[in-house]
Amino acid sequence: MSMPSWETLRQEVESLAARYPKKEAAILPALHLVQRKLGYISPEGEKFVAQVLGVRPVRVREVVTFYTMFSQKPLGKYHLQVCSNLSCTLNGSQTLLDYLREKLGIEPGETTPDGRITLSTVECLGACDQAPCLMVNDDLYGRLDKPKLEALLASLE
Ligand code: FES
Repeated sequence: MSMPSWETLRQEVESLAARYPKKEAAILPALHLVQRKLGYISPEGEKFVAQVLGVRPVRVREVVTFYTMFSQKPLGKYHLQVCSNLSCTLNGSQTLLDYLREKLGIEPGETTPDGRITLSTVECLGACDQAPCLMVNDDLYGRLDKPKLEALLASLE
C-alpha cells in the first residue's frame, strides 16, 4: 500500500467534513478514509482525525474501539473476514474458518508472518441468502465450500 502524505489526507478529511453539519458526525467517515488509505488506525491516525476535525481525541478513541471494523493493527495485504452469524454458521462457515486457521496457521485477529493475510470473523455481512460468505478486502464471496475457498486462496498472490 503506497503511503499518502498526511497533507493529502488532511485535505481529503477536510473536504469530507465539509459535507457534514457537525464535525462530530464526520468522525466515522474520516476514520474509514484513514483506514482505507493507511490500512489501519494507528495512534497517529487517531490523533490526526481528532485534530483535523477539531474534536476531542477521546471521542475518536471511543469510536475506534466501539466499531469492530476499525483495525488498530496493520492489516495484511488481504483481509479475509469470515461471517460468523447465524445463516452462515448454519451453512458451514465454521468449517471454512477452521480450514483457514489450519491452512494459514493463524487465529482470527492475526496476520500471517509475511504480512499477506489477516484473518477475522465478522457479524452478518448482509448477504445471508448467499451463506456461507466471506469478504476479501472489499469483495464479497458467497455460497462457499471448501474447494471454492481453496481456489480463492490460491488466486491471492
Ligand atoms: Fe452471514 Fe448474514 S449471516 S451474511
